[in-house]
Amino acid sequence: MEAVLAPDVKVEPIKPKVGAVVQVDKATFLDKAFIPRCLELIERHTALVFPRLGLTDEEQLAFTDSLGERVNFTDSVPGGDESTKDVYTITLDSVVNTDPEYVFGSMFWHMDGIISDIPPPKFTLLSCHQPPDKGGQTEFASTYAAWDALPDEEKAELEGLRVVHNLVAGLHGVLEPDEINPAKRGMNHEHPLVWTHESGRKSLLIGHHADYIVGMPKPQGRALLARLLEWAGQPEFSCRHTWQTGDFAMWDNTGALHRALPYSEDSGRRMHRTTVAGYEAIA
Ligand SMILES: [Fe+2]
Repeated sequence: MEAVLAPDVKVEPIKPKVGAVVQVDKATFLDKAFIPRCLELIERHTALVFPRLGLTDEEQLAFTDSLGERVNFTDSVPGGDESTKDVYTITLDSVVNTDPEYVFGSMFWHMDGIISDIPPPKFTLLSCHQPPDKGGQTEFASTYAAWDALPDEEKAELEGLRVVHNLVAGLHGVLEPDEINPAKRGMNHEHPLVWTHESGRKSLLIGHHADYIVGMPKPQGRALLARLLEWAGQPEFSCRHTWQTGDFAMWDNTGALHRALPYSEDSGRRMHRTTVAGYEAIA
């Protein structure tokens, strides 16, 4: 269904295969009539940036709820529910976040919620409450576009492979395995490498958290995963957003990787995140 659009909605693609900047005023954005158009835009561009929207937590939650079921997989970590219930504050400020390893982990290409016991979240939504003074841009890489562009013979080799994702791999470069909370150290999930969505589109399930390929010697499997990650992150399939106060972004977490460029504890960077539950199990 084509939504009736206010004339002041302007869509500018960032790259042909990923990302769009959507200029829209807050009233139009929060109007229920905008939702189908927004879903259509995200299906097309994978990641959307809405400059200077200035959403409150309540407005962000209302928008989140209008996209699907709200999910909160970080309510038990510092920064979860800090400002408002079900809103996760992403920050390295040690007053709010006494346990920064997940934020450091987000500086590597990843998908949200991939090793949690839930279908991967459909959308991640971020509001910038304070931009970093240096670094901290967010990059998005379309794993739909990365899959589509692979040669057919390579696609045939990848279909059917299964990958184990785990926390030890996800925090590689941040913590040594024995430094990870023992209660969480064993968190892992096995997923197909290629996700065939109900829509018929396919995406790659990869990321820093992808540890090894089932049934393949670890060095060869890891080399393949590293190569696919480089492939997906190349400029043709990825884009970058530099944050300003009030900017809002959302992306399809089931067909995109994301990462923050490195930033420091005193950068001031503070983002409020909400999450929409997965629409479908991985197939
Ligand atoms: Fe993330």
